[in-house]
Amino acid sequence: MKTIVLSIIALLSAATSPAQTPVASPDPYRPVYHFTAPKNWINDANGLVYSNGQYHLFYQYNPQSAQPGHLSWGHATSPDLLRWTHLPVALTEYPGPEGSNIMIFSGSAVVDKDNTSGLFPAGKTDGLVAFYTGHQEKPGLVMAQHQNLASSQDGGRTWQRYAGNPVLDIGSKEFRDPKVFWYAPQQKWVMATVKADRQQVYFYESKDLKKWDFMSRWGRAGNTVREWECPDLFELPVPGGGTRWVLLISAGNPTEQFRGQQYFLGRFDGKAFTPDQPYEEPAYLDFGKDYFAAVTFNNAPDNRRLLVGWTNDWAYARDVPTGDEWRGNFAVPRELSLRQTSAGLALVQQPLAELRTLGKEALSLKNQTIKPGAAGLPVAFRGESYDLELIVKPGTATAFSLNVLESEAERTTLRYNVARQELTLDRTQSGNVSFHPMFASSLETARVPLQNGQLKLRVLVDKSVVEVFAQDGETTLTDLVFPRQHAGRISLRAEGSPVQLTQLRLTNLSQPAP
Ligand code: FRU
Repeated sequence: MKTIVLSIIALLSAATSPAQTPVASPDPYRPVYHFTAPKNWINDANGLVYSNGQYHLFYQYNPQSAQPGHLSWGHATSPDLLRWTHLPVALTEYPGPEGSNIMIFSGSAVVDKDNTSGLFPAGKTDGLVAFYTGHQEKPGLVMAQHQNLASSQDGGRTWQRYAGNPVLDIGSKEFRDPKVFWYAPQQKWVMATVKADRQQVYFYESKDLKKWDFMSRWGRAGNTVREWECPDLFELPVPGGGTRWVLLISAGNPTEQFRGQQYFLGRFDGKAFTPDQPYEEPAYLDFGKDYFAAVTFNNAPDNRRLLVGWTNDWAYARDVPTGDEWRGNFAVPRELSLRQTSAGLALVQQPLAELRTLGKEALSLKNQTIKPGAAGLPVAFRGESYDLELIVKPGTATAFSLNVLESEAERTTLRYNVARQELTLDRTQSGNVSFHPMFASSLETARVPLQNGQLKLRVLVDKSVVEVFAQDGETTLTDLVFPRQHAGRISLRAEGSPVQLTQLRLTNLSQPAP
């Protein structure tokens, strides 16, 4: 009831706003342009693969409720990663060759175009093979985790579990999340998995996807406080020549009490990963609290490296106040590249370029001065789903801030401290933060040097998700927020001296993709 009343208020206030009139959906938290399942629980993205003109997104899914359990692979497809078709559950827990009541944990999928597995009829070039961790437990007790495969001849609609499962079992209860990819120089498949409790990635090779041989292990670098999960390994071009391999790991940040993701740059010779540096200081992928288990697509066209992350944190994922209908969503897919930055070669994340084909430009400003003072610069737009780009020159100001999802008593604040060159995402006043002690427990801060005296920000706001891309994707911060009021205002403030807003562009994304 409260939700309905709030939504009506949101509708009314939007209708009286001077600028755009976004349509408030009856669900105050379900994002418009971020992926959610029609109902129930989701966590990690799984089996990301492109085949026959479609991106396949499988995902950790509970077919029975909006809480984790009965973990299965949900399935959706899209021609452009913006418009999704929801399909029936692809793989679900079952009594099968792997044992009884195995849950289908995270993993990957490949197109076996040469039928190296022999699992497909002769001449079939679009057979899919999925790799998942079979997770077996009794109430409160994990019994086993091992790697399994299933094949599909109909574009991932139906799957046949391999009779010889599990294909990889080392007798461990912490061995999971197989990422399989084709390693062309040696005409073979490579699998990266984690020995989660040892913070190590184990690498295996195979010619036929069924028989896997151990090659090497690497890890215990960067941050090793939490378990390592969801590895991914891929090659990216280095600007100016050559390539680097990127190893992604989902694992936590000890100082901030939450999990995040790390990445390591290095070489991979088909057998072993060798990092460029010891990574005594971890390189974090995202500095928000809610970007986890992100992995990339296999086989994406044009050599694009496209990343999909779960915008959540296990610490409070079960408690986020989205109701009993659905829980969990994915970030907008990000395109990855390498760039030379002031801090050296770095992994850069940009929102999917195709996002710019959606929505309507609602506002465009140039060269405005923001004077210090309580009023700041109100932006003549109200809404809760949009793509906001701005370039700010702080000059001699000490700081400036951008408030989004702002109402009388609530706001989500991005603040830039000029002297420290630090960008902070503050959700302490964002709305409902009391459902879990860790939700509002700290501010998310990242070092972001100015470039030519300016800070470029792109902020994707979508009801309960805020994704921030600073300096063309050199730094990202992703957080969930749960506003209780829905005025949807935006404002900018300067501290100390005026700041120059060189440019602001806002695209309204409150309507689902046509
Ligand atoms: C990461 C993770 C994986 C596991 C899956 C279970 O979020 O813990 O390691 O396979 O979730 O849902």
